[in-house]
Amino acid sequence: MHKYEKLWLKVGISSLVIFLTILMITGLHNGHTPAASGRDYVNPDKVDQIEPFNKPGLHKVSGKDYDYELVILASAFNYQPGKVEIPKGSKVKIIATSKDTLHGFSLPGTNVNMMLEPGHISEYYKTFNEKREYLIICNEYCGIGHADMKSMIKVVD
Ligand code: CUA
Repeated sequence: MHKYEKLWLKVGISSLVIFLTILMITGLHNGHTPAASGRDYVNPDKVDQIEPFNKPGLHKVSGKDYDYELVILASAFNYQPGKVEIPKGSKVKIIATSKDTLHGFSLPGTNVNMMLEPGHISEYYKTFNEKREYLIICNEYCGIGHADMKSMIKVVD
């Protein structure tokens, strides 16, 4: 083997070792708390400590092809946040999950109709162009308080 080939082999192996070490360190650092991006499993027992569900509500984002993230945490028998105001014309990524049992997330009169399963993250993109109120209702039977499980989106100027 030539001197340079050996050298390149060493460089290659070293880079691989460094790369794997970084992977291990970041892997340990993140533990088992995958964020919403790219993964769809989230531990329902600890979901209110896990990003983004530790901060339910509307959050402005930058550098994305949408304007806001609306983080929704459903549990028997309510949604966090209870009521949301969204600026008119905003493209919103709705990110939602359930803390306990199967719930729904539906905006009657629109195409938004998601099942929220504990452990899974449901996502939907919607642009809110109309200045109006949207009722959020649960359309999966979830127990005694099911019929009263409601929230509201208000689109404002
Ligand atoms: Cu929650 Cu029905």
